[in-house]
Amino acid sequence: MQLKKNKSLKEFNTFGIDVKARYFIEITSVDKLKEALTTYSREKLFILGGGSNMLLTQDIDALVLYINHKGIEVLSEDENHVILKVMAGENWHEFVTYCVENNYGGIENLSLIPGNVGSAPIQNIGAYGVELKDVFQSCSAIEIANQTKKEFSKEECRFGYRNSIFKNEVKSKYIITDVTLKLTKRDHVLSTSYGAIRENLANKKIEAPTIKDISEAVIAIRQSKLPDPKELGNSGSFFKNPVLDPDTFRAFRLNFPEAPFYEVSPTEFKVPAGWLIEHAGFKGKRFGNAGVHKNQALVLVNHGNATGNEIWQLALNIQKTVKEKFGIYIEPEVNVF
Ligand code: EPU
Repeated sequence: MQLKKNKSLKEFNTFGIDVKARYFIEITSVDKLKEALTTYSREKLFILGGGSNMLLTQDIDALVLYINHKGIEVLSEDENHVILKVMAGENWHEFVTYCVENNYGGIENLSLIPGNVGSAPIQNIGAYGVELKDVFQSCSAIEIANQTKKEFSKEECRFGYRNSIFKNEVKSKYIITDVTLKLTKRDHVLSTSYGAIRENLANKKIEAPTIKDISEAVIAIRQSKLPDPKELGNSGSFFKNPVLDPDTFRAFRLNFPEAPFYEVSPTEFKVPAGWLIEHAGFKGKRFGNAGVHKNQALVLVNHGNATGNEIWQLALNIQKTVKEKFGIYIEPEVNVF
């Protein structure tokens, strides 16, 4: 277990923000994690996974535990299903690729989502009609205060739209060490309701898609809309899509009948934050080193050497302008430190 001091985190966050960690330890096993928690029990901690859903606005005056232990284990299987236990440090997309190659179905729509497996339950990652919760069975976590292991069932995780117990009741109390998922081995339940997926398959004249076809379609759609963090620093959707109550929605709709929306339930109407940001005039605009992506207004980007604060000021400006123009509050999806 090697303790590093004043380590740059530039390579460890997909925004590519150059801040320093006061202390830094790479965790390569659950035992090493327990050891670090006991040895440094008096230090303030900062838990780092793939760094794909965070904006760092200042140096981290804490011990950064970089969770990087890997491994995929088949817990059980029959002709129809496989149950896999995946270590927190596995890269999410590499894991999806492994599943697609082995014909394990259920997460092909979640192809190319940046970040690591251990962070996936925290915000219940989702895209193109599928969320992690659809295949999730349980996860293990270590309680920081006493280094004991706890298993969280799906019900205990209380998944919601980009939400879970790990963002609420037990926030910063546990470190997720592995995730267990149930996937299909045949009769895959394909999710092709998303317009762009259907279009992509139709263009390729694919009538009976395999999970590989879906994965490839999702990869093509994401690559056309979302910037690759290796080329242009970003953190995916910066804001959540706001969910409006019927009164707020009716008032909004009266003024902006052309806006797209999605009825989540009879009392909840989701409006795309990307549309609001675009129609507030921000799409493709650049403010110093920070900017709004040209193909997807929900994504803020680092054009070069932006500081976290530059990006945060842009986010606040967008939030304020959207509120003034549409009367709607948009909440950040990324964690800001
Ligand atoms: N739109 C605009 N302008 C834009 C962007 C979007 O008008 O600049 C409109 C589109 O025309 C469309 C609607 O907004 O009618 C929805 O756009 P899109 O399908 O691109 O999805 P999104 O709602 O913007 C969400 C997720 C994405 C996920 C996609 C696909 C959130 C916050 N974001 O985006 O997740 O990939 O759906 O399912 O829910 C992420 O979380 O980092 C992420 C990329």
